[in-house]
Amino acid sequence: MRLLSVFTLLQMNKGKNIIVTGGLGFIGSHTVVSLIENGYNPIIIDDCRNSEPFIHKELEDLTNRQIEWIKDDYRNFSSYRSQLYDTNTVGIIHFAAYMSVGESVSAPLKYYDNNVAGFVELLQEVERTNIKNIVFSSSCTIYGQPDENPVSEHAPVQPPQSPYGATKQMCEQILKDFSNANTAFKSIALRYFNPVGAHHSHQIGELPLSKPNNLMPAIVLAAQGKIEELTIFGDDYNTPDGTCVRDYLHVEDLANAHVRAMDFLLNSSTENYTYLNLGTGKGLSVLEVINSFITENNVDLSYKLGERRPGDVESVYANTSQAEKVLGWKAEKTLKDMVVDVWQWTQYLSKTHGIN
Ligand code: UD1
Repeated sequence: MRLLSVFTLLQMNKGKNIIVTGGLGFIGSHTVVSLIENGYNPIIIDDCRNSEPFIHKELEDLTNRQIEWIKDDYRNFSSYRSQLYDTNTVGIIHFAAYMSVGESVSAPLKYYDNNVAGFVELLQEVERTNIKNIVFSSSCTIYGQPDENPVSEHAPVQPPQSPYGATKQMCEQILKDFSNANTAFKSIALRYFNPVGAHHSHQIGELPLSKPNNLMPAIVLAAQGKIEELTIFGDDYNTPDGTCVRDYLHVEDLANAHVRAMDFLLNSSTENYTYLNLGTGKGLSVLEVINSFITENNVDLSYKLGERRPGDVESVYANTSQAEKVLGWKAEKTLKDMVVDVWQWTQYLSKTHGIN
């Protein structure tokens, strides 16, 4: 892969359609931009249940072109069957899934239905088309607390901590079995570590659609003064400063990895099924992220030390050598890029869309 120049890839990808389910979401929207920059023609399927229509407009503005968008549930194949059967459509990147750990505990069937049953239906439909390439969003949550950090793809998968985590494991297994049984079919599961940040244009990013549980949206709320103070969940872990360690990854790097993954499936994969870690390889503590946010953005925010959050693991960060080797991909953005971009995007949302 590394030997192919950007120009060669642009030529090879030109005019090829890629279906992007959940293409208006956080990672999906950044991937749409990256697909276009790399010569692909993305077709978005998104019913806006966890996104906003204005993201589509922002994407068109940002890329200076029209982007096909089918506003529907990804499970309603009749609305986009013609695109699925179009011979120019060569791949699917599947993002459309629920992703709140807490909600998955209280509404497990909602998660098994949309994330797992819907995925099976999608594969059944794809099996009837000429599409032979699928990229699936998985998560490092499947490693639980690994015995060793940085964690490689060889580490054992741990019993899931939540129905959300279970759906990721089930879908990986389904995809693997499906790809092995259908040898014309190639697929890749991408195990994300902690995606944060926003596009460097600050026109797209993560939307504050529900009460945030993740660290970066919670930091933003505290910096905006919308919560009195941020609670750090535990400072007595066996880590350098006592707070949990994670591998925070800029969403633009993550988006680029999806495009590299699609290039890989189309041009050089000899395997039917591949799974890869996507992270920076660097562990950062909760306190390091908070302090970087304060310093780089020159903002004040209050935080307090609180109890550990049930289900949290102490430390997990990625061994990324496999992604480098297979995809020729390496994360390039820094923690500073992550905290600055997310704060700038917050200002843009407020000024342009009145969303605070
Ligand atoms: C969480 C999920 C994981 C999921 C991922 C998606 C849990 C237990 N894990 O991972 O399954 O794949 O989100 O992005 O929910 N923190 C605070 N204060 C806060 C919020 C978070 O201290 O207000 C800490 C957490 O304790 C953790 C770190 O920040 O140590 C990162 O938390 P978070 O952003 O929720 O990600 P994960 O826990 O890694």
